[in-house]
Amino acid sequence: MVLASGGGSNLAALLAAHDDPSYGARVVGVVSDKPGAGALELARQAGVPSVVVAPGDFEDRAAWNLGLTDAVAVFQPAYVVLAGFMRLLAPTFLEQFPGRVVNTHPALLPSFPGAHGVRDALAYGVKVTGCTVHVVDDGVDTGPIIAQAAVPVLDGDDEASLHERIKVAERSLLVETVGRVAREGLLVEGRQAVIGA
Ligand code: GRF
Repeated sequence: MVLASGGGSNLAALLAAHDDPSYGARVVGVVSDKPGAGALELARQAGVPSVVVAPGDFEDRAAWNLGLTDAVAVFQPAYVVLAGFMRLLAPTFLEQFPGRVVNTHPALLPSFPGAHGVRDALAYGVKVTGCTVHVVDDGVDTGPIIAQAAVPVLDGDDEASLHERIKVAERSLLVETVGRVAREGLLVEGRQAVIGA
């Protein structure tokens, strides 16, 4: 299942792949923290159940995390994919799905973690950045890396143009990686995340 806060182009890519039985993974549900997220509309159009779990509807962060955990657990997902989900998950959430929560990040981790990975890479002046699919641990974008793809920074790039180019690579990497993980399994040992081990 997929958690998303934004427009949902990564979700759209997964939904475009999941009808093919040979892909091996299905998006069983979508949860968003934002009532207006484009990802929710994409889920509706695809006939996938969606739920909003907004922090504003809860007393505090801990209560929201519990609400989110319950909302996700209802779907009994094999894996939870964070596709542009812009909030940190509490350890209590991660304990429910050990080694099975996967995030996509628009930079080559461990460089440029956090909410502004594209902006930070550009400001640093790197010539190559990219995207990372990784297992989520209780740090910020620090979990074991499953797959990465490199994207060149071009002269004249601004944050929007670079992010757009990264997102093209990110969608293919996410679709390919989620499919392989679903078909072949994922083994996580320390910092090593290995598909099909
Ligand atoms: C992606 O680049 C994701 O890595 C980042 O936000 C973007 C979300 O894009 N954190 P979308 O909502 O899937 O189009």
